[in-house]
Amino acid sequence: MALDPNGFREVMGSLATGVTVVTTRDRQGQPRGLTATAVCSVSLMPPLLLVCIDHTADCYEAFLGADAFAVNLLRDDQEHLSRQFARKDARKFEGIAYRPGLTGAPILPGVLAHVECRVQARHPGGDHTIFVGEAVDSGVVPVEDGRSPLLHFRGGYARIASRLRAEPS
Ligand SMILES: Cc1cc2nc3c(=O)[nH]c(=O)nc-3n(C[C@H](O)[C@H](O)[C@H](O)COP(=O)(O)O)c2cc1C
Repeated sequence: MALDPNGFREVMGSLATGVTVVTTRDRQGQPRGLTATAVCSVSLMPPLLLVCIDHTADCYEAFLGADAFAVNLLRDDQEHLSRQFARKDARKFEGIAYRPGLTGAPILPGVLAHVECRVQARHPGGDHTIFVGEAVDSGVVPVEDGRSPLLHFRGGYARIASRLRAEPS
């Protein structure tokens, strides 16, 4: 028998993740996006990643109709953006000085890194759809800037308290 949703959420919440805002444009060219942690690297050659989007998200149809999206990786001082994009609110982008990336997908200001993708495939994934994107452009804040990622762990936001000595893994 399958785990119940609470049990599944509890166990998968123990997998600490970075927090992203995934963005796209709808058919009218309006910016759309949502907070997402179900984001994962898939392949190096070609460079593929996946994003899982809930069918009940208001922006789901926009992603379904889009040929590109951007993944914005939040910094540890951007919890407010995570909260803003996790709200059901059509005006999520109001007051945010985003810029269009190479694909036109919105890039949020001050993020730790971003990657833009062309949609390569859409796969069924239960109550989510798995969007596979081929990375076509990216930007990363230099390590020397000392910025850290916003994390999510067991239902709450978290930050890196200290870093283990950098050794090749
Ligand atoms: C930390 C966090 C992680 C989330 N991860 C995802 C995710 O990976 N996929 C998803 O579809 N929704 C995820 N959500 C929920 C959406 O951000 C939320 O339902 C949002 O309101 C959807 O936006 P919309 O309905 O206005 O389009 C997450 C929410 C939070 C707070």
